[in-house]
Amino acid sequence: MMTISLIWGIVIAVGCCLWLILGMRRRQMGEPPLENGLIPYLGCALQFGANPLEFLRANQRKHGHVFTCKLMGNYVHFITNPLSYHKVLCHGKYLDWKKFHFTTSAKAFGHSSIDPSDGNTTENINKTFIRTLQGEALNALTEAMMENLHLAIRPPVVPKSQMPAWVTEGMYSFCYRVMFEAGYLTFFGRDLTGQDAQKALILNNLDNFKQFDKIFPALVAGLPIRVFKTAYHAREKMEQDLRHQTLGKRDHISEVIRFLNYTLSTLDDMEKAKIHLAVLWASQANTIPATFWSLFQMMRSPEAMKAATEEVNKTLENAGQKASFEDSPICLNQKQLNDMPVLDSIIKEALRLSSASLNIRTAKEDFTLHLPDGSYNIRKDDIVALYPQLMHLDPEIYPEPLTFKYDRYLDENAKTKTTFCSNGLKMKYYYMPFGSGATICPGRLFAVQEIKQFLILMLSYFELELVESHEKCPSLDQSRAGLGILPPVNDIEFKYKLKHL
Ligand code: HEM
Ligand SMILES: *[C@@H]1O[C@H](CO)[C@@H](O)[C@H](O)[C@H]1NC(C)=O
Ligand SMILES: *[C@@H]1O[C@H](CO)[C@@H](O)[C@H](O)[C@H]1NC(C)=O
Ligand SMILES: *[C@@H]1O[C@H](CO)[C@@H](O)[C@H](O)[C@H]1NC(C)=O
Ligand SMILES: *[C@@H]1O[C@H](CO)[C@@H](O)[C@H](O)[C@H]1NC(C)=O
Repeated sequence: MMTISLIWGIVIAVGCCLWLILGMRRRQMGEPPLENGLIPYLGCALQFGANPLEFLRANQRKHGHVFTCKLMGNYVHFITNPLSYHKVLCHGKYLDWKKFHFTTSAKAFGHSSIDPSDGNTTENINKTFIRTLQGEALNALTEAMMENLHLAIRPPVVPKSQMPAWVTEGMYSFCYRVMFEAGYLTFFGRDLTGQDAQKALILNNLDNFKQFDKIFPALVAGLPIRVFKTAYHAREKMEQDLRHQTLGKRDHISEVIRFLNYTLSTLDDMEKAKIHLAVLWASQANTIPATFWSLFQMMRSPEAMKAATEEVNKTLENAGQKASFEDSPICLNQKQLNDMPVLDSIIKEALRLSSASLNIRTAKEDFTLHLPDGSYNIRKDDIVALYPQLMHLDPEIYPEPLTFKYDRYLDENAKTKTTFCSNGLKMKYYYMPFGSGATICPGRLFAVQEIKQFLILMLSYFELELVESHEKCPSLDQSRAGLGILPPVNDIEFKYKLKHL
């Protein structure tokens, strides 16, 4: 027994030494400081995964603003000085944003390549998203969203005497339910066969979406979906409902989905459905927690509640509208929504505190990255990464970074504030929950409008209260760090009651 374990011990020790000598990258002249980690292949992945913010801060203290970590077989160069961000984005010639995004999307949703250079897509898919989520198209989307939010939020009209009393519900599950229903109908149209069928479809998809989204971080990390039976079936069922064969029976399908039909013309119905699922995920997975944080942080701060209510009152008044159950539903146009700096600031501040996205580019060739902090040699296929949470929680840029200040993004004239400084210098990039540069989220304008619409309806139609008046702020679910807005680890209870309007 003894000898066998001894032999094994020696084999492993020799293996490790060989790995250390042969397999481990050595830092070369001009390259950033390197953290190989102690575990083959994984590198620093476990420490990074446990708490990305602390891990990066520790490395920043040790190495300075630029350093390299081995993560899951990749060498990732972290650029942590926000004053360098614009310089990184200037090196677009050497950096490929598509490779990582397309492979990740294909892994998670199981579609084949959507890279135009592989021949299955006729147009740059990036252009399709910009054309169908911004500009003219945004008007139609916001209008449809407002109608669908009314459907999802407002209970059926009942006589005043039977007005329901206070309802208590988890705030996260409320936001999930309402935003999912309204968003699904906005992108994939309404069911022509009737209300009951529609409700059933939404409830099924909501359930399946939750199952699938739960294991999303594992899929991004590279685990095959077949390992997760429930999530696998959930994804299949959602795809079925997103085929053109099924969508054909629906009304008011969004331009994104109609336009993708042409962009992806060579793909079959099933492949298109998988890409529709990717759009569904992109449009919901971040929006739902973002909506929760916006409502929760606003309700927890009496000053925020007051300022927001005043702004909503003023906007409705200027638009000649009134919240009531008899008149036609509230409907604000793009211009009216854009002129609400208080709600903008509340949403921005809520996202600043809850966002943990990782912006990734792959080096197309060996090149030198010139930054204000110095120049660094980068090797082909290495990854260059930004982790904007470091900046969002930097006390020099945002004093008392962990405190929600509803007016942080308002200037002295109560208009949107755009001057933020680091090291005495005005920053170009100070707010990045939606990514940056070429890969910036094409749905960001719509996302802010829909959250704003949600808050407007909540403030106009309901009296709102937290069950615990001094509710503690739930912590962020770090298992999703890197994917965008982090959900709360636990739900919190709130009460709502229809106003007598
Ligand atoms: C608060 C809500 C949202 C947040 C925080 C958010 C954030 C992001 C981020 C960080 C990215 C990746 C950028 C990068 O890799 O650098 C992204 C990509 C994307 N987002 Fe959003 N997003 C939100 C809502 C939406 C909505 C409502 C849509 C509507 C369809 C949408 C559509 C997309 C699409 C299609 C992409 C992929 C773009 C591409 O790779 O070409 N997002 N989003
Ligand atoms: C293109 O689409 C066809 C049919 O859906 C598929 O068989 C093929 O593998 C795709 N090609 C690539 C490069 O993904
Ligand atoms: C998508 O294209 C297919 C075939 O080209 C067509 O049958 C279907 O109706 C289209 N769907 C939509 C929503 O336009
Ligand atoms: C907003 O308007 C409602 C009804 O029009 C009124 O009851 C409320 O006091 C107003 N609130 C603020 C903060 O102006
Ligand atoms: C996407 O399109 C926009 C506008 O045409 C452009 O600025 C951006 O660089 C494009 N991104 C990529 C990755 O092609």
